[in-house]
Amino acid sequence: MDFPPCIDDVHTRPVNSSASDAWNESALAWLFEVSDGGDYGRKFVLDAPMLDRVRGRDFRTALDVGCGEGRFCRMMQAEEIATIGIDPTEALIDRARNLDPKGDYRIGRAETLDVAAGSVDLVVSYLSLIDIPDLATSTTKIIQALRPGGTLLIANLTSFNTAGMPDGWSRGDDGSLGFRIDHYLDERAIWVSWRGIRIQNWHRPLSTYMKLFLESGLELRHFSEPAPIGGDPQKADRYRRVPYFHIMEWQKSGG
Ligand SMILES: C[S@@+](CC[C@H](N)C(=O)[O-])C[C@H]1O[C@@H](n2cnc3c(N)ncnc32)[C@H](O)[C@@H]1O
Repeated sequence: MDFPPCIDDVHTRPVNSSASDAWNESALAWLFEVSDGGDYGRKFVLDAPMLDRVRGRDFRTALDVGCGEGRFCRMMQAEEIATIGIDPTEALIDRARNLDPKGDYRIGRAETLDVAAGSVDLVVSYLSLIDIPDLATSTTKIIQALRPGGTLLIANLTSFNTAGMPDGWSRGDDGSLGFRIDHYLDERAIWVSWRGIRIQNWHRPLSTYMKLFLESGLELRHFSEPAPIGGDPQKADRYRRVPYFHIMEWQKSGG
């Protein structure tokens, strides 16, 4: 299935529900969404370049922040990397433990990360930064967990895309499909909903992320906007027309 949401299945959610309630309420629908090895964006856009960046790099320990039901932890373990997955959504951590009983999965938030300082070679955030309300505190915690010289690997929805939420894809007066972005510089939380999942995502301009990471002393080592490879041609076309994802790799000083 598709992530991020497509036209016709996305709307705002004018209810008084917190972001964490929303992930708990959406957990079952999310498990269905990723049950077949991941949705289109993961299977046909992000998985291959993300795995390329962890493979053969001598990473021995990795922390996956916002690991969900643990799919990328399992992929890293197949590359001989020992993983810790953290996520605040209990049902997703339960599922991760069921799928990988020997794995290390913990209920927790990025903002209150409780991992020994300097203990991991690699921190991964796979489509979770847009879900994290307090990015600055989370970044501080992530950098603390990394060993000197360690790597922060991020797959995120681009800010150009989140500026189009919740209804970027829409039809013009002539019926043609286009993607509309607006209020790019205004940070905001946006309720999005598709196929039983209702969650809050954060739109932040790209400069918010770059400024924070640069001012935290991280050095940018890689930036890419991966293209779709294979799968449903109509979905591939959509992922080529509009900026969806980027991958960034940042390095902590020292080591
Ligand atoms: C889009 S899912 C991605 C899950 C997984 N990384 C994957 O690619 O399948 C975003 C995840 O972020 C988690 N999340 C939400 N708020 C968080 C927070 N404050 N700290 C860490 N993770 C959070 C959610 O529970 C959810 O599992």
